[in-house]
Amino acid sequence: MTADRSLEARGVRLGYGDRVIVDELDLTVPGGRITAIVGANACGKSTLLKSMARLLTPRSGSVLLDGKDIHRLPTKRVARDLGLLPQSPIAPEGITVSDLVSRGRTPHHGPLARWTRADDEAVAQALDATDTAAIADRSVDELSGGQRQRVWIAMALAQQTDVLLLDEPTTFLDVSHQIDVLDLLTDLNRDRGTTIVMVLHDLNLAARYADYLVAMAGGHLYGAGDPGVVLTAETVRAVFGLDSRVIPDPLTGRPLVLPIGRHHVPAELIGRA
Ligand SMILES: Nc1ncnc2c1ncn2[C@@H]1O[C@H](COP(=O)(O)OP(=O)(O)O)[C@@H](O)[C@H]1O
Ligand SMILES: [Mg+2]
Repeated sequence: MTADRSLEARGVRLGYGDRVIVDELDLTVPGGRITAIVGANACGKSTLLKSMARLLTPRSGSVLLDGKDIHRLPTKRVARDLGLLPQSPIAPEGITVSDLVSRGRTPHHGPLARWTRADDEAVAQALDATDTAAIADRSVDELSGGQRQRVWIAMALAQQTDVLLLDEPTTFLDVSHQIDVLDLLTDLNRDRGTTIVMVLHDLNLAARYADYLVAMAGGHLYGAGDPGVVLTAETVRAVFGLDSRVIPDPLTGRPLVLPIGRHHVPAELIGRA
C-alpha cells in the first residue's frame, strides 16, 4: 500500500501577534518518505509544523495538501489525512490511556457513526506497537514522561492517517524507546507508505532515520535534502553555532556528528574545528 500524499508550504509567513517567526519559507515534503527537521531552539520548527497541520494560519503564502489549500479544507477531512503529535500535548484530566488513544479515531466517525471493530483493531494495534497495552487502564496523569509520550504516539497511530507530523516524538524517552519509536515510524512508512515529518533534536538519529533532512535557522531553511549532503560540519556551525567533526557512522555510513566543546578533546581541536 502506498499513500502518496503531497504536502507543501509555499512562501509562508508565520507569526504570533506582531512577531513574524518564519518568512517566505518554501518546503515540499517528499510524499511517502521520512523527513526530519532539525534546528536550534526557537528557530521556528514547531511553528512551521503547526502551520502544516492547519493549527496556525499563514499571514501570507499557503500550505497545500494534495494541491489544495489546507486552511480551506474541512477540519475532519484534514484529520483523516493528516495527524499531528504536538510538542507538548495536554490530556483531559483523569482520562485513561485507552480512552485517549481511542480519541485518535474521532476523525473517522460521522456525527452518528458507531464504534466499529476496525476502530477496536486500530486502537489495539496502536497500543501494541507503542508498548502501552499493559498500561491501557491507567490514568494518563499518573504516567512517567516517557510512558505518556508513547501514549500520545499511540493516539497519533490510531488515527491511521497517510501523513503524520510529529514534534519531538522522542522527547522524554530512554535510548531504547527512542529507537523503538523511530523503528516503528520507519515500519509505518515502509508498510503503509505513510509520509512522516518529524522534528528531532538528535542530529545523529535524524541523519540515520530521515530520507530527507531539513535544517532550519532563524525561521528560514538553511538547507534541505539527503542527510549525507545536508549534515556537514559547516551546517552544524551555521545552524547551531557549534564546532564539530562529522564522520561516517560506522554502522550506516550516514553522517555522525561529534561535537567538540571546550573540554575532553585534544587541545589543538578546540577553537579551530
Ligand atoms: N503561541 C505562541 N505565542 C507567541 N510566541 C510564540 C508562540 N509559540 C512560539 N512562539 C515563539 O516563536 C518562536 C519560535 O518558536 P517555536 O516554533 O516553538 O520554536 P522551535 O520549535 O524551533 O523551538 C519562539 O521565539 C517562541 O517564543
Ligand atoms: Mg519546538
